Amino acid sequence: MPRSAGATYHGAVLFSERCAGCHTLNSAGTHGSAPNVRTAQANSGPNFNVRCERPVTRVLYAIENGGFSGAYMPQNIVVGQDAIDVAKFVSTYAGSLAPKLTGVTRCQSLPIGTLPTATTQAIASAPAPAATTTTSATAKAGKGGKAGKAGKKSAGKGGKAGKKSAGTKSKP
Ligand code: HEC
Repeated sequence: MPRSAGATYHGAVLFSERCAGCHTLNSAGTHGSAPNVRTAQANSGPNFNVRCERPVTRVLYAIENGGFSGAYMPQNIVVGQDAIDVAKFVSTYAGSLAPKLTGVTRCQSLPIGTLPTATTQAIASAPAPAATTTTSATAKAGKGGKAGKAGKKSAGKGGKAGKKSAGTKSKP
């Protein structure tokens, strides 16, 4: 994806940062989808090399609602203009390796359609997404949360231990 692609390049960068952990798409160099159906996990997202994502409204819908089920994909990983850039990028490049099927129009021949412009309200009220700079960061986000809890727990123990030892010292 050349830098000169402007908003589409921006969409590709955001995709590689925030969607890579769960989705495969060659145009963004990501491999997050399950490589094999037998090793697929519930949160492995569709492979966009073969899945057609047109019109673009379906991508924006998935971004805003956390996929179509709302069960595994986080909502609003990108918001406002960022979400629009990602949606346009995905819609344009998804489905390039979709198998040719008789009677089914090729993805690249389907219209991408248009999106409404971003509303400032949506940008202002949406929570800032967790900073994810590496491709694997998104996938590890859940683990990070657990680590956080563990950290608190041990901090709690540390606190107790501290008091205890302080107590023993002051006894004599
Ligand atoms: C934690 C893993 C995860 C992340 C991160 C993630 N997705 Fe998903 N995504 C999924 C799963 C799982 C599904 C399929 C289930 C569903 O639709 O609810 C899905 C579904 C979708 C769909 C609908 C595909 C279809 O045709 O059914 C789109 C479009 C999509 N994701 C785009 C994105 C974009 C764009 C991002 C980054 C901003 C992203 N996803 C980040 C897991 C993820």
